[in-house]
Amino acid sequence: MSTLRPNPAAGNGSRFLRACLRLPVDRTPVWFLRQAGRYMPEYRAVRSHHSLLEICRTPELAAEVTITAAERLGVDAAIIFADLLLPLTPMGLDFEFVADEGPRVHAPIRSAGQAKALRTDRTEDLLYVARAIEKVARHFASKEMGFALKGTGFSPSVGPDLSKGALAPEGNPPAPQDQLGIIGFCGAPFTLASYMIEGGSSRNYIETKRLMYASTPATSNANDPRGAVVFNPEGAGGFSPLNTGATEMGFSPGTGPDSAAWPILMEKLVTVLADYAAQQVEAGAGVIQVFDSWVGALSPTDYRQYALAPTTDLIARIRALGVPVIYFGVDTASLLPAMRETGAGVLGLDWRTPLDHAWSALNHAVAVQGNLDPIALFAPPAVLEARVAEVLAAAAGRPGHIFNLGHGIVPNTPVEAVLAVVHQIKAVRQIKSSTHP
Ligand code: CP3
Repeated sequence: MSTLRPNPAAGNGSRFLRACLRLPVDRTPVWFLRQAGRYMPEYRAVRSHHSLLEICRTPELAAEVTITAAERLGVDAAIIFADLLLPLTPMGLDFEFVADEGPRVHAPIRSAGQAKALRTDRTEDLLYVARAIEKVARHFASKEMGFALKGTGFSPSVGPDLSKGALAPEGNPPAPQDQLGIIGFCGAPFTLASYMIEGGSSRNYIETKRLMYASTPATSNANDPRGAVVFNPEGAGGFSPLNTGATEMGFSPGTGPDSAAWPILMEKLVTVLADYAAQQVEAGAGVIQVFDSWVGALSPTDYRQYALAPTTDLIARIRALGVPVIYFGVDTASLLPAMRETGAGVLGLDWRTPLDHAWSALNHAVAVQGNLDPIALFAPPAVLEARVAEVLAAAAGRPGHIFNLGHGIVPNTPVEAVLAVVHQIKAVRQIKSSTHP
């Protein structure tokens, strides 16, 4: 596994990247899940002329929305504007966003035959996301370049005029720690499979779990790792219910008509998502966040048996690209120790577990991101301030904390509340940051 070190020359001595690597920082870095979204008037203005998918698939628009949100809020990282479901299209699944309902997949996967028909050879169709990342990277680099050239008599060439921020920077040049992180992202195999199988958002994940369980031998025992879906990159079959030595033990993989659906789906998703993440890193993403938003629907036993191996493989492939991985899920208190086994360097925490409890449960062996309740942004200013202070106190200045919400900003959130949180975080210096082991 490559050793990750911040490299100021490459623009990654930023406090965001340093925190991902659990290095001391001058103050806690901050950004917000769904920082570009309907709560923000600037986003709604773009959205009034374009559909969500149009914005995602037009690099100029996706870059503009990404940059505007990060600059308006003054945060330490910009997450590329895209959507979790974009990879479904090149895999051969059509979907749309239905107003007031959310995503709808036209022909959800319910059988092994449908899983087998999914394509993994068209990931280059997603290169519009990489093009948008390049524009975002160029924008922030040209800002820094503008500072570097100021006073030399040179008028810097700034590339596309994505926003006024690209021109004639004012004030002092940004210190390396102030350079913005650029975050690319993709879904995790479980969460993406849940959309492909349910056909949209779900309450009980019945169809997803039905296919998942169908891959299991009837005799499988939770403590028997041979029941787990494992990845066998050498074998032609990729993911398969591990049955090495199983025959003599009287053990066989699931044999129902759709027992192959889950392992095939996991394998194909990992292939596509790893390629997609590689495109984003090559384009300039310095960190990849893997969204496993709905993994909290799984028990720890089922997580280990059906989701851990493919997720670990995906994260290993992304780490091999030389970037830190943030692995995020909601309702994950009981899953955190298993999620840590994926090898992700940063775990995203939801707000239901106090950050100090969650971090100790992880032995402080990874960085953590979170974990303010997004609905606290609707509280009176003094209550919000107390909740933000509580999160910072729980982190206790320990290296490796990135401030964020426990889940995305929801529509109608007051922008001033988000700005107040940024202001509060920026006021706290990490004087104790080097005192922790
Ligand atoms: O700043 C950002 O975080 C921007 C980019 C972003 C979007 N989607 C744009 C979007 C990101 C990181 C996502 C990821 C995403 N998409 C997730 C994982 C993150 C999470 O919240 O857990 C999921 C589950 C999806 C799938 C998805 N996209 C759903 C379920 C919905 C409908 C729900 C809703 O809020 O309407 C979307 C639509 C979507 N994707 C919006 C945005 C800004 C809503 C706004 C719109 O229609 O313009």
